Amino acid sequence: MSVPVKTLLLLCLMGLSCSKKDRVTCADQSRLYACSKFEIGVAVDLTALQFDSLYREIVNTQFNRVTPENAFKIAALHPEKNQFNWTEADVLVDYCLKNNQKLHGHTLVWHANLPAWVENYTGSESDWEELFKNHIQTICRHFKGKVQSWDVVNEAFNENGTLRNSIWKQKLGPSYIEKAFQYAHEADPGALLFYNDFNLSMNPSKRKAVLKLMQNLRHRGVPIDGIGMQMHISIQWPENADMAEAMEEITEAGFKLHLSEIDISLNPYNKEFDLTEELLNRQADKMKAISLMYQRLPEQLQFGMSFWGVSDTYSWIRSSFNREDYPLLFDDAYQIKPMYKKLKETL
Ligand code: G3I
Repeated sequence: MSVPVKTLLLLCLMGLSCSKKDRVTCADQSRLYACSKFEIGVAVDLTALQFDSLYREIVNTQFNRVTPENAFKIAALHPEKNQFNWTEADVLVDYCLKNNQKLHGHTLVWHANLPAWVENYTGSESDWEELFKNHIQTICRHFKGKVQSWDVVNEAFNENGTLRNSIWKQKLGPSYIEKAFQYAHEADPGALLFYNDFNLSMNPSKRKAVLKLMQNLRHRGVPIDGIGMQMHISIQWPENADMAEAMEEITEAGFKLHLSEIDISLNPYNKEFDLTEELLNRQADKMKAISLMYQRLPEQLQFGMSFWGVSDTYSWIRSSFNREDYPLLFDDAYQIKPMYKKLKETL
């Protein structure tokens, strides 16, 4: 990867991607984040950022927070027990610093994306404890002061509100969740720490189970700043009232709320599909409703919104489900969609 890394660094040094965000105001209508009181983030694919100049231009000019879509996951950062790979991740850190963008780390602990060495590890319980602590703290220390916030634990709950039987729960017991937050905080006390999960508005019993555990841990002094409500939604679901209820419940419990991983599917059931203006307008209306309900929450708890990809071309939905869909703010030609315009109007 040495050539692409150097290429990106060179581009940054040449100033092609290094705008000064603090000088921009909402009067500059070409920038989305400039209109917003809270951060507007995007999940970034490092290869696209390096090789696709239009993609890079959008990331540079529209967003003031970046989440690495895959580059900070365990398989990428910690591919072998005694090996951490910082090269690519550090390129992103430099890029965000130069471009004055906040970096949201995703994710320290997850049941998925495990490298073979974790799946096959046969140590004792205390070996697992050591491995777990070392994984979290080595990463948090490396990025201390450069990554402002972390998804510490991702998707630890089943849909019925019980804890997922992940490898971490099997090896460490249910207390792995609180330990993860404590270890992350010890290693970087300045970072904001989040629990992140999906279906929290569609599934109130899952949400209540998540909130019950997070409140309980907080009362016992575990440092949890906020909750990431993943927004992999569609124009058909969830109901707006259900999303509003979820946002209110999370913030009434005193947690910062990150509307994380936003994409709004037009074709969730993979039916025969015709892209129409009517569907794009329904997507825009959903975005508007989300933006308005989010802005009714207490400002200090509005951590921000993050979109799960830049343009439709790069959406995980297409590659993971092999379905025709158009879930993001920019279309395949990198043009803004009605969803983008409606969001900007509401900010
Ligand atoms: O980079 C390799 C490439 O070298 C290889 O040729 C190709 C062949 O399949 O795979 C590529 O890696 C893929 C990677 O995305 C980059 O495209 C992985 O197979 C694929 O599993 C991976 O999917 C990611 C998925 O998480 C699993 O980690 C998606 O991009 C990413 O959008 C998705 O994000 C998750 C969040 O982290 C958590 N919440 C749900 C969300 C959507 O699933």
